Formats: sequence, structure tokens, C-alpha cells
Amino acid sequence: MQPNIFKKGPTAVQVEKGKTYAWCTCGLSETNPFCDGHHKTIEGFPFKSLKFTAEEDAEVWLCNCKHTKNPPFCDGNHKHLSSI
Ligand code: FES
Repeated sequence: MQPNIFKKGPTAVQVEKGKTYAWCTCGLSETNPFCDGHHKTIEGFPFKSLKFTAEEDAEVWLCNCKHTKNPPFCDGNHKHLSSI
């Protein structure tokens, strides 16, 4: 099963050092790129959020297409979605 493509491009997000975030992996969250728990509403759904802790105060680019090879960050793979 492939994740839903929420958007073919990342979102810039300001993160705070030491704070933990939950990145949406299924692509169905209404608060993308973050998880809103939508995956819990579908029985047998294989996706769950990916939690990560910011190592520094920074602006990061979080993947919205859910096909990055470096989750939760955009790696540019959204440019090749037509071939996925
Ligand atoms: S938005 Fe997913 S790789 Fe860029």
C-alpha cells in the first residue's frame, strides 16, 4: 500500500530544539505535514506517525508527498512522482 500524496512539494516549518513533532506518513492528515491521528480511524491501515525531535532551532522542509527516502524531510523525490 502506498501513502496518499498530500502535496507534491514540502512545507517549510520552524522547529524548536528539543521539541518532538509527529510527521504524517499516510498523507491523509488535515494538518499536514503533521499527523492529526487520521490513520487511527481506518481499521488495518498500515501507517502511523513518525515522531522526531528537533536537534536545533531551525527552519526545516518537511515532506508532503510521503515518498521521501529521508523522512520526515523532503529529499526532492516529489519531482519524480510520475514514475512512482
Ligand atoms: S515533498 Fe516529498 S520528497 Fe519533497
